[in-house]
Amino acid sequence: MANPSLLILAGDGIGPEVMAEVKKIIGWFGAKRDIAFDVSEDLVGGCAYDKHGTPLADETMAKAQEVDAVLLGAVGGPKYDKLDFSVKPERGLLRLRKEMDLYANLRPAQCFDALADFSSLKKDVVAGLDIMIVRELTSGVYFGEPRGIFTEGNERVGINTQRYTESEIARVARSAFELAKRRDNKVCSMEKANVMESGVLWREVVQEVHDKEYPDVELSHMYADAGAMQLTRWPKQFDVIVTDNLFGDLLSDLAAMLTGSLGMLPSASLGAPMANGRPKALYEPVHGSAPDIAGQGKANPIACILSFAMALRYSFDLGDEATRVEKAVEKVLADGLRTADLMGPEGGKPVSTSEMGDAVVKALDTSL
Ligand code: NAI
Ligand code: MG
Repeated sequence: MANPSLLILAGDGIGPEVMAEVKKIIGWFGAKRDIAFDVSEDLVGGCAYDKHGTPLADETMAKAQEVDAVLLGAVGGPKYDKLDFSVKPERGLLRLRKEMDLYANLRPAQCFDALADFSSLKKDVVAGLDIMIVRELTSGVYFGEPRGIFTEGNERVGINTQRYTESEIARVARSAFELAKRRDNKVCSMEKANVMESGVLWREVVQEVHDKEYPDVELSHMYADAGAMQLTRWPKQFDVIVTDNLFGDLLSDLAAMLTGSLGMLPSASLGAPMANGRPKALYEPVHGSAPDIAGQGKANPIACILSFAMALRYSFDLGDEATRVEKAVEKVLADGLRTADLMGPEGGKPVSTSEMGDAVVKALDTSL
């Protein structure tokens, strides 16, 4: 059987720096676990614009549609700030998400014990936290029509439309239930059914999908504003949270920050299953290209490394190997290794991007 295929789009700024560390880990899996990937690399974002005059060439888009998973670094930077909106680096990423129809955005909020002091919340509130927010990514108020700024009488009016079809809600609900089955078997769906019709439909459809297809998963519903309160009060009550594009944007950022640095946060964006049963998938750290620290060996590679771990779990059904990577990260943090962004008042051993990557590889070795 052919090896699973991986397209690496390292992008701009610190993207290539953090991706270099992921490549070490991919190499480790080939050498030590006999798990080999067919890796190809291409350009996205500003670097693609520099070469092709577009942030995502058609050939790259076609490749992304064919591979089993795409791993992306980050795009953008001050050099491209003045470009026309249509060719901005971010458009490359948006095109990938749109054409691959990646409707389920998975954002874990996981607290590594060694970093529990780093949270703005009390240690016992976040220690051991492990929740997953599933945000609908391709519909809702960011896309609904009509939209625009219009003139009504003698004043301007800004309009955006929250719109969800039944099938859009059902497919992201399924993603959440499937995830819950691999985790603690619990889903909380969040909307504002008290004031929005789209929220009423959301609640109904999630409940229907549950009753018909996933009756054994525990399902609850919560208004999204109450959900925000509960997330900061006692986040450990949740396992999987599923919500729409707008609330998911806010709640996933809120949940992520419960646990500390931007340099630690992975994400996955999943679409419909392909012919081989694997979902269309793009994995990327939450952070951007960090131009302020690019080229200085300061970037924390862990977000990108954990994104690869998500690929192992969700694209390649290698959950145990994903856990192995996560444990290796946990070990280096417990050993006190800290890139600059993780350097809190309690101190630690300062390390560079590549020293952090090397340490994770070494921790993987000791896991055998
Ligand atoms: P950013 O995430 O790049 O940086 C925000 C702050 O966090 C900076 O101080 C940066 O040094 C720090 N930081 C981020 N990742 C880090 C890491 N791995 N290790 C250590 N420190 C880290 O967001 P910002 O500054 O708003 O945007 C910079 C550029 O990135 C812009 O061009 C923006 O459009 C783009 N961007 C791209 C994204 C993507 O590719 N998905 C997401 C967010 C922003
Ligand atoms: Mg956001």
